[in-house]
Amino acid sequence: ESGVPLVQAGTLVTCTHLPYEPFQFQEGGEIVGFDVDVVDAIAEDLGVEQEIVDTPFETIQSGEDLNAGKCDLAAAGMTINDVREENLDFSDPYFEATQALIAPAGSGYTSLDDLAGLSLGIQAGTTGAEYAQENATEAELVTFEDLGLLLTAVQSGQVDAAINDNSVLYDFAADNDDVEVTAEFETGEAYGIGVKTDNTELLEAVNASLARIQEDGTYDEIYEEWFGT
Ligand code: ARG
Repeated sequence: ESGVPLVQAGTLVTCTHLPYEPFQFQEGGEIVGFDVDVVDAIAEDLGVEQEIVDTPFETIQSGEDLNAGKCDLAAAGMTINDVREENLDFSDPYFEATQALIAPAGSGYTSLDDLAGLSLGIQAGTTGAEYAQENATEAELVTFEDLGLLLTAVQSGQVDAAINDNSVLYDFAADNDDVEVTAEFETGEAYGIGVKTDNTELLEAVNASLARIQEDGTYDEIYEEWFGT
C-alpha cells in the first residue's frame, strides 16, 4: 500500500452518479463501465480496492462530496471546467466529449432552433444543461435527475428531445431503434477525475496511473471493451 492519504485505509472510495452508460452503470448487480475500469487501474497502482458510492451528480460536480470526505475521487464522466475547478482538482484529461441531441427516430429535429416551442430534456447539474440554458432559449427545458430518466422521457414522448454527452447518447441509440442522435455541438469537452482540492498526493498518483495506462496499452484495452465494435 502507498502512503497516499485516503478516506478509508485500504480503499479507494469513488463517487459517481448512476446510470451513465457506458461510463458507469449496473449490470447483473455489479457497477461496471469505462470509468470503473480506469479507476480500478488507479486503485491497483495504489495497492487498494475501489469502492463505488452512488451520489447525485450535482454534489459531485460542486465538490461537496469530495470536500465532505464522502469519497477520495469522483469519476463520473465529468467535464473539466473553470467553475468546478474552483471547488475540486481535476486529473489530466482522459476522455473527449461534446454535447449532442437525441430525438425520436424520424422526428427531424436536427438543431436547437427546431425545438423552439417544444420541450428539451436536460440532466441536472451537467454541462449539457448549461449549454441548453444558453443556446436553446426558445425551448421549454425539462430537468431530469439522471440519464436513465432523461432517455426514457425521450422514448415515451414526455419530452421532444434531450441533450447530453455524445458518447452516452450514441451508445443508447445503438441499442434503441426508436431514437437517434440528430446533432452534435462542438463544445470541446474533456473528462477529468475529481480529487479533493488539498489531496495533492492522490492527484499526482491519479495522473501517474493515467499516464501509465496510456503508455502500456491498458487504456486502449479499456476503450476497446466499452467502445469497440
Ligand atoms: N460530462 C457532463 C458533465 O460533466 C455530464 C456528466 C454526467 N455524469 C454522470 N455520471 N451522470 O456535466
